[in-house]
Amino acid sequence: KTNTEEELYRPNFHFTPKKAWMNDPNGMFYYNGYYHLYFQYHPDSNVWGPMHWGHAISTDMITWSEQPIAIYPDELGTIFSGSAVVDISNSSGLGEVEKSIPIIAMYTNHKDFGNGKVKQVQSIAYSNDEGKTFKKYENNPVIDNDTIKDFRDPKITWDEDRHKWIMSLAAGDKIMFYDSKNLKNWNLLSEFKKDKNSKDGVWECPDLFKLPVKGTEEFKWVLFVSIGTGGPNGGSSTQYFVGDFDGTNFKIDKEFEKSLKENHNYWLDFGKDNYAGVSWSNARTKDGAKLMIGWMSNWDYAVKVPTETWRSAMTTPRKVALKKDDNGYRLISTPVQDLNKYRGTKFKKENIAVNGITKIIGSESIDLASTEINFNLNNLDDKSFTFKLSNKVNDTLLFGYSHAKKSFFIDRKKSGKIKFSEKFANKISYAPRTSTNKNLSGTILIDKTSIELFFDEGETVMTEIFFPNQPFSTFSIETKNRELLLDYIEINQLNIN
Ligand code: FRU
Repeated sequence: KTNTEEELYRPNFHFTPKKAWMNDPNGMFYYNGYYHLYFQYHPDSNVWGPMHWGHAISTDMITWSEQPIAIYPDELGTIFSGSAVVDISNSSGLGEVEKSIPIIAMYTNHKDFGNGKVKQVQSIAYSNDEGKTFKKYENNPVIDNDTIKDFRDPKITWDEDRHKWIMSLAAGDKIMFYDSKNLKNWNLLSEFKKDKNSKDGVWECPDLFKLPVKGTEEFKWVLFVSIGTGGPNGGSSTQYFVGDFDGTNFKIDKEFEKSLKENHNYWLDFGKDNYAGVSWSNARTKDGAKLMIGWMSNWDYAVKVPTETWRSAMTTPRKVALKKDDNGYRLISTPVQDLNKYRGTKFKKENIAVNGITKIIGSESIDLASTEINFNLNNLDDKSFTFKLSNKVNDTLLFGYSHAKKSFFIDRKKSGKIKFSEKFANKISYAPRTSTNKNLSGTILIDKTSIELFFDEGETVMTEIFFPNQPFSTFSIETKNRELLLDYIEINQLNIN
């Protein structure tokens, strides 16, 4: 059984723990050539339970090497989500040897007293061996709390304009901002409240950071807020806000607020499986963008997905940048550059006339479970199309663009094992197209159990998981009613192992 499960479902290029349950990515930082990824981990079972921080390292965010558990529960509670920073100036004084640069992790200690009574406080731990092992700070918690029920997921950012640490914390229906000079004493600055512009569900896993606006001299601040329920296609999802931060308050940009009121379609990802994503600290691309990763599942069904040895994978890491055009500000996400270096066999086809169903490629030519596809369509106009992954036992995964709905979609209703949860495949997922470009370009990443769609240069993204009974063996495209001309499609096999 394990063998089949490994072969069928262990991803080729997405991080999974060797065994047991994983949820949110935590404490990501870059230092000395390594990207670190910690994660919510329950080592003793394949469902959620007492949380630890698991750990993995990578030089390129694509191939990971799992490390021993980094942070264990203690008398203050289990270890919920949080962040880590490279304390370059040893502002905390927790660097043990002269000139050493400590890594400071800040997380939520969660204590469950039974009868629905919980206590969530914020604590720190420090590492003097570049993130391998951590010691708990002796005066924990650094932020105590007896009144707020949901009070968690501290995310620290270095504020380079004011030379201080800023921390965002989720507190039920609001984000609380704090600052600190030494990562040990935290002062409450302000609160950003849930209002009619935001969506329901408990607020979780915030992230506040500054981004350059592409092609301009302007900078804006972006706030990620994950919500446990109420996503655009049901269940958990991550929304974002664009605004300004003056060292005390985060204020939504006026124009952004206006378009938010008209139509709240500011989601990091419209697919059902990208949650609790936050950014890497101490890392930016050359053009100033941030790097992030998300948990590729949804609280609607995460504990029931059909794998036993391990449960859940992370998304492909992404670059997130900010652009502004006539339609306002938009976050754009694209797969990290380093994925390109794994490209192997390549097929390129041009001017494909599609009328009805047309096969593009099969598994005799390329491994369709380790694939990157780039395509372009010069005149989208009023056309619709459906890409289709299928196998010999008639499992099919459908995705594409519907003109009637002016939306991209993923339909996993017949994608294989779906019955483990009613909420898994009861609906087709849609993502409204926001770009007004005449041409449509897209990047598609396919692994054994996931698909990630980046349309319009990353302006609209959809990530979803699936569990076919056999690997998909045919990739085709279909149009109904109208002929369609696909200008080009390029298919790259990704050779990760
Ligand atoms: C988000 C979350 C966090 C919490 C963690 C617990 O998925 O609920 O708010 O810290 O998971 O595992």
